[in-house]
This record gives sequence, C-alpha cells and structure tokens, in this order.
Amino acid sequence: MTEERPLSPPPKLMPRIGSRGAESFLQEGKVLKDALSRCFPPGTTFEPGMRFLDFGCGVGRLESQLTRESRTLEIWGCDIDEEGIAWAKSQFGPGFRFFVNDPKPPLDVPREHFDMVLAFSVFTHIPDGWRDWLKEIRRVLKPDGLAFLSFLSVVPFVKTVGPADRLETEGMVVDGAENDWSVGGPQVYQTNAWILENWSEVLPVRAIFDEGLTFQSLAVAAKRRADGPPFVVQPFVRQYPREGYRGFVDHDPWQSGNWWLECGWCSAGDAPPLNGWFVSDHAPLKSIHAVAPDGREIPIEHKLRPDLGAAYPKVRWAIDSGFTIAPDALRAMGRGRHLVTITSTDWSGRAHWMRMQTTIR
Ligand SMILES: C[S@@+](CC[C@H](N)C(=O)[O-])C[C@H]1O[C@@H](n2cnc3c(N)ncnc32)[C@H](O)[C@@H]1O
Repeated sequence: MTEERPLSPPPKLMPRIGSRGAESFLQEGKVLKDALSRCFPPGTTFEPGMRFLDFGCGVGRLESQLTRESRTLEIWGCDIDEEGIAWAKSQFGPGFRFFVNDPKPPLDVPREHFDMVLAFSVFTHIPDGWRDWLKEIRRVLKPDGLAFLSFLSVVPFVKTVGPADRLETEGMVVDGAENDWSVGGPQVYQTNAWILENWSEVLPVRAIFDEGLTFQSLAVAAKRRADGPPFVVQPFVRQYPREGYRGFVDHDPWQSGNWWLECGWCSAGDAPPLNGWFVSDHAPLKSIHAVAPDGREIPIEHKLRPDLGAAYPKVRWAIDSGFTIAPDALRAMGRGRHLVTITSTDWSGRAHWMRMQTTIR
C-alpha cells in the first residue's frame, strides 16, 4: 500500500463498519487517527518500536491512515470478520499484522504484549461478554499500557433511540439486539457514569472524552493506576441535542487542578474559568444563563470565539457563541457536587441547554 493510492474496500465490506463509500472511508480513517492522538495523555506519543493492537479493526479504516507510522511501529489488527481481515491482509504492507479472532477470548497473543490497545466502535456492538473482553485486553497490555475504547453515550442515544431518561436510569441500553452485521449489528449505549463504574472494575478508566470520536465518546483506561492523582475525568456534560443547535464545554480531561474532576480535586485559587459554547444554525444567540441546583443564577459572560468561525464556516455568527464562567462564580456554590444547568436562547426564539456535574472540593 502506498500513501498515493488511498485504500477503498469493496462495497460489500462497508455496511459492517458503517461506511458509505470510498470517500467517507478515507475521511473517517482520518477522524479516527486524529481522535486517537488528541486523547493521548500528556507525554504519550507513538514511540518507535511500540506495539499496538486495533481490536475489532474491521477492514483497517484506521490503519489506512497509518502507513507512515507502520515504518516504526508494530501495528496489529484483529477482528471476527474473516472476509474483512482477508481483504486487509491482501492490501496492507509488512508493518501491519492482521489476524482473525474468535468471538470469545482469548486472543492468540502472549500476555503483556502491547503498549496500546484500541477498540473503536467495537464495545458499542458487544452487549454480552464485554467484561471478558476487557479482561483479555488487560491481559495483553503491558503493565503501564493504555486502552482507548469508544462507546455510545447520551448524545447518540437521544439522536437515534429516544429520550435520555431511559439511558440515565438504566446506565446501559442495547438497541437492535438481534441485528446482524449487514445492518451494523446490535448497538450498545452507556452513560459515562456506567462506564466509569463498570469498566473501571477491570481496567481503571482515567479519562472520558465526550464525543471524542465525533459521534462516539472515548474512554482512556490504564492497566495500572499511575502514581499521583487518581482519575481525571471530564465533566459529565449532558447535552440534549436539537437539530442545528449544539452546546459544549471546553475541557482537557488530562489537565489537573480544575473544577470539573469527578474524582479529583480543586486546588484553591488556581482553577481556570469554565469556557464553552452554543451554536445555533438558525439565528445568533440572544442570551445565556447558568443556574445552580438551588435556582440561583450563576454569573456568565458572553465571549467571542474566533475558533468557532472555522469550526462552523456556514454559521455566520458562530464566533459570537462562546461563554465563560469565572472560577469564583462556581466556587460561590460551596463545596460538594452541583448539577449546573446552562441554557441559551437564540433570536429565533429557540432554546437549548446542557447540564454539567461540577465538583467543588
Ligand atoms: C463498526 S465496526 C468498526 C471497525 C473498526 N474499528 C473501524 O473503526 O473501522 C465494528 C467491528 O467490530 C468487530 N467486532 C465485533 N465484535 C468483535 C469481537 N468480539 N472481536 C473482534 N471484533 C469484533 C466487527 O466484526 C466489526 O468489524
């Protein structure tokens, strides 16, 4: 395979990986590669000689973007799909090793073999047996190895299944349990809280990137808990997306010393402000309000966000969509956990809101 000739699997292999065609295969591969490196903990890079496994690699959508890296890394990919793996084996160069795995563990690899294991859009299709597969990933990871595992959380649930209440009550919901792979297999949805509690029993989850993989969220789990501060977890920003109206809170889950650590801490005085944004496709924002659980208004400022102009080139007023909340305004809620609601309205009269679990220690 050369970088000059983008790979394009035959159409019959596309439904299983949810790709619409050659162009989308290429774009999605780039998104996966970009997402992976953005979720690396500080100081983590692809080091020469590193070995990584793409568990449930399909036909190698991610690998199609890793030709350069394959010269210095050992890139392994496995899947239960014999046809997809046969195709990948026939297309990729010598830096790649593909193999078919059984539907149940173990994998045919020695213990402590990999520096990293990824599973993109794989646990989203494993309603049963997820615990055994997590244990198997733990077995094949080196002692300080990392796992990057995507899951479907509240945002896609609301978009494709129904109101968030059901997922928030049950923690994990399976949709289309009987679906076969010609229509993409069963879909599993989980809340961040469920992932933290259940996956961490096997592999401690150290960070969650909400929608880190665009539609899917990404959990980063470590085989061994690192020394120092324990888990750094992104705020549970709950969005209830509407067509053409989005909101988000900026946050680097690896950054310490900030407000939104579920199991972390807040050192006095040096917490950064909370920044976020709402973008409506219909009209400029009219107002943004933040409210504490007791109904008290939290001061919030409108902010210019030139970066959103680039992210939403078709929305003329996107750069006027940011907000910021000063640390003192959050600190005024007092110690403990607080569910802060941030609501915006646009000039067409629509409103959109998100909730953020905030811990003040
Ligand atoms: C949506 S596709 C994603 C493929 C690939 N990770 C990507 O992002 O292009 C899901 C893949 O998971 C694979 N899969 C499901 N259960 C698996 C298991 N127990 N072991 C290995 N692969 C599995 C499926 O065969 C399918 O290729």
